[in-house]
Amino acid sequence: MHEHQISTKFTVFESSDELSTSEKELLDKAIEARDSAYAPYSGFNVGASVLMDNRDVFFGNNQENAAYPSGICAERVAIWSAMASLPNGKIKKIFISARSVKTLVDRPVAPCGACRQAIAEYETKQLEDIEIFFTGEVGQIVKAYSIKDLLPWMFDNSMLS
Ligand code: THU
Repeated sequence: MHEHQISTKFTVFESSDELSTSEKELLDKAIEARDSAYAPYSGFNVGASVLMDNRDVFFGNNQENAAYPSGICAERVAIWSAMASLPNGKIKKIFISARSVKTLVDRPVAPCGACRQAIAEYETKQLEDIEIFFTGEVGQIVKAYSIKDLLPWMFDNSMLS
């Protein structure tokens, strides 16, 4: 019997002032996308921006539906938009911001499990880590260096072979 421990690495920024200029611009794009989210049922608006290796930037926001499970998260809209346009492109960074009509979101909002799985798919495919930055409406910003930091022991295509 062996006991193991997986540790993950992340950096916490106190505000966007601590980001580089280009990272702040990408976060601003996620915020802009967030503010156009279609989230009439939850009132929880999420936006995401995706930086590709050719410097193109793609956006997404959550799109809800009266049939609740038919909605989709911001991150997957952004990632799939990027991969639909650039099927051979590599994702460098993803930025996520969330706000609620009900309360001030003052802590970082991490991507949901299904979105982590989608990020894992492309990180595995491209063989290069994807940096993931996430925040709320105000407050700290968390940077994870790879999806492996958010989804340890993930299921990927190696399990299928
Ligand atoms: N949502 C996202 O867009 N991204 C996440 O990572 C978490 C949740 C959306 C889905 C739904 O429209 C609303 O937030 C509340 O769950």
